Amino acid sequence: MSTPSPAANAPALAIRDLRKTYDNRVEALKGVSLEVRPGDFFALLGPNGAGKSTLIGIVSSLVNATSGEVRVFGIDLMRERSAAMRLVGLVPQEINFNMFEKPLDILVNYAGFYGVPRREALQRAEVELKRAQLWEKANVMSRTLSGGMKRRLMIARAMMTQPKLLILDEPTAGVDIEIRRGMWKTLREINAGGTTIILTTHYLEEAESLCRHLAIIDRGQIVDQGPMKALLAKLDVEGFLLDVDGVLPASLPPIEGVSLTATDDHTLDLEMPRAMDLNRVFAALDAAGIRIRSMRTKSNRLEELFVRMTTQNGAEAAA
Ligand SMILES: Nc1ncnc2c1ncn2[C@@H]1O[C@H](COP(=O)(O)OP(=O)(O)O)[C@@H](O)[C@H]1O
Ligand SMILES: [Mg+2]
Repeated sequence: MSTPSPAANAPALAIRDLRKTYDNRVEALKGVSLEVRPGDFFALLGPNGAGKSTLIGIVSSLVNATSGEVRVFGIDLMRERSAAMRLVGLVPQEINFNMFEKPLDILVNYAGFYGVPRREALQRAEVELKRAQLWEKANVMSRTLSGGMKRRLMIARAMMTQPKLLILDEPTAGVDIEIRRGMWKTLREINAGGTTIILTTHYLEEAESLCRHLAIIDRGQIVDQGPMKALLAKLDVEGFLLDVDGVLPASLPPIEGVSLTATDDHTLDLEMPRAMDLNRVFAALDAAGIRIRSMRTKSNRLEELFVRMTTQNGAEAAA
């Protein structure tokens, strides 16, 4: 029997209808589908409890899925677990190396566990420790490293098996902005070297600064996914429903930068850039003989999600 090898054109990660119900009946994932292209830098963005760690746990084989399909570079994770796992490097949410070991030993022993010969492991460790700006700390007790250094050591360790897909679960949660920027730089370098990266975060700013594509997850479901730019454009648009006096004319006045459609003969659906002055729209409608009686904001799931995420972050910062 031959070992499955990664398929040339397959997505780095393809997830179909993934579900997870924990023993306590919490439905952490309710049918998640997503796809990550090879070479991509991808964010899984969502508030606490959304299901991010559960999804990462399944992809890195720490958690069993209830149902669904996961493929890593075309390899079926449930059927060919070890072949798929060889392609994945994981940086878990919690620091989990032995504080009484030295960084060099942590890296070399980890690689040894995955079958990398010692000579080779020593060479790789030098490269990774240098990239992580930890080469001077190679032989100190890990316990003495700063918080940022410990985080970088976690990334260096994951890179020791030369994964094609590097997954990081909230790599910068709770670290200050300077350390975060340093980590972003390291991650960009790793990605530029050809490694596909997926990270989870609840900071929009982090996803915006690093990622080309993202999926937004909330309460176990994907709310939206696509290019970062398209998402930001959506968030910049505000939607209103306007009730008009009487009946709408057959043709609506064109207003620059605004999308206006009639949902019935006395209701208008208005979408406009957040920065735009609503009075300008009202004036244009008035000039066309359309009088607005009342208006309400259209609810937008994305926006609601972000409001909640920011409130959570605010609560965290205040705590
Ligand atoms: N081992 C577990 N047993 C039971 N419920 C869990 C377990 N792990 C996570 N959950 C629940 O599943 C949901 C998703 O959690 P998680 O995947 O950790 O979200 P996130 O990483 O986005 O914060 C939450 O409601 C959480 O309480
Ligand atoms: Mg988590």
